[in-house]
Amino acid sequence: MADESKGILGHLPPLPRKALNNSVIGMEQAYRQRKGLPLLSDADIEALKAGEPMPWERGDGAGASAAPTAPAAVSAPVAAAAPLPPPTASGVISEEVAKWVADGKKWSKSAIAAEQARRGRKGLPALTDAEVTVLLGEPAAPATAASTPAPAAKPAATPTARPVAAAASAASSVAHAGESTRYVGTPAVGTSKAAAAGGLAAVGPEDSEINRGRRRFAWTAVAAFLTAWFLAFFRFFLPRTLFEPATSFKVGYAADYGLGVDTKWQQKYRIWVDRTPDRLFVIYARCTHLGCTPDWKPSENKFKCPCHGSGYDSEGVNFEGPAPRPMDRAHVEIAPDGQILVDVSKLYQWPKGQPSQFNDDGAFLPV
Ligand code: FES
Repeated sequence: MADESKGILGHLPPLPRKALNNSVIGMEQAYRQRKGLPLLSDADIEALKAGEPMPWERGDGAGASAAPTAPAAVSAPVAAAAPLPPPTASGVISEEVAKWVADGKKWSKSAIAAEQARRGRKGLPALTDAEVTVLLGEPAAPATAASTPAPAAKPAATPTARPVAAAASAASSVAHAGESTRYVGTPAVGTSKAAAAGGLAAVGPEDSEINRGRRRFAWTAVAAFLTAWFLAFFRFFLPRTLFEPATSFKVGYAADYGLGVDTKWQQKYRIWVDRTPDRLFVIYARCTHLGCTPDWKPSENKFKCPCHGSGYDSEGVNFEGPAPRPMDRAHVEIAPDGQILVDVSKLYQWPKGQPSQFNDDGAFLPV
């Protein structure tokens, strides 16, 4: 009984039933269109609006939609006289479609899908395979068993044929895999489910190589973005470490240095080794004005700061420019292996107007 009711009654509310409005009737028509059930006739619709039972509910078998119309009748000019005719047979081209083709209007698959959706909403018969083929401008397919008139047209127009017609129509929708039934509506009204229920392989763009390439590109971009985001997130938990050079280091033996300024450690340790007749000391290469690194000018026997022009003599004592005091000297001592051990973390200064630290222990090595 349930199957029979579904085949004949669709989703109509059970009796006793109040008068239905156009919206409910439209949804019923759309449901029947999707399921391949016979559509409601004008008489059925008027009866529903009046709140009267359907002919098959009365048991008198007088329903106008009791049997789908024959293909020839459906292929006549569409719908002016019958607003809600059943689907046309798959091999018939209606005059409306023939006129579109004659007008030279170009149709894409998406346009045909939209037209199918519109017909579904309006309760009009769906485009047949033949109509879709001519609208796409493709060569007509050879006649096959699948292109024969739809099973819905087979039953005789007798009231008792309704269940048979409904069952045959539903079976047709399952077995039918033509182009016209592939586009049965927009996804918003659940056509993917309807297509799956009808046994269709898929609804939507075809799985071409171009589309697969686009999907690969999109997923690659998503994966790259997520990877970069994860790395940035992971980096957040790592400590911020600065690898500064050691402040204590060896610079060789005192015998390695002759009189004067030696600049070979300037780049690596920012120091100059300076030897006078009686001592060896290390100048920290930082201008006492604002911290620039002065240049050693051997031809002028002085240090010259490139920033603001401060000048220092060969022992790092300022004599011109804005520098307020001589350059600082690093702590020096003899390591156990006899090399000079320099420690720039401990500096000796000669602040302006104050005693000099340059003669303190560790500020120089006697030679
Ligand atoms: S930083 Fe050397 S003179 Fe200004």
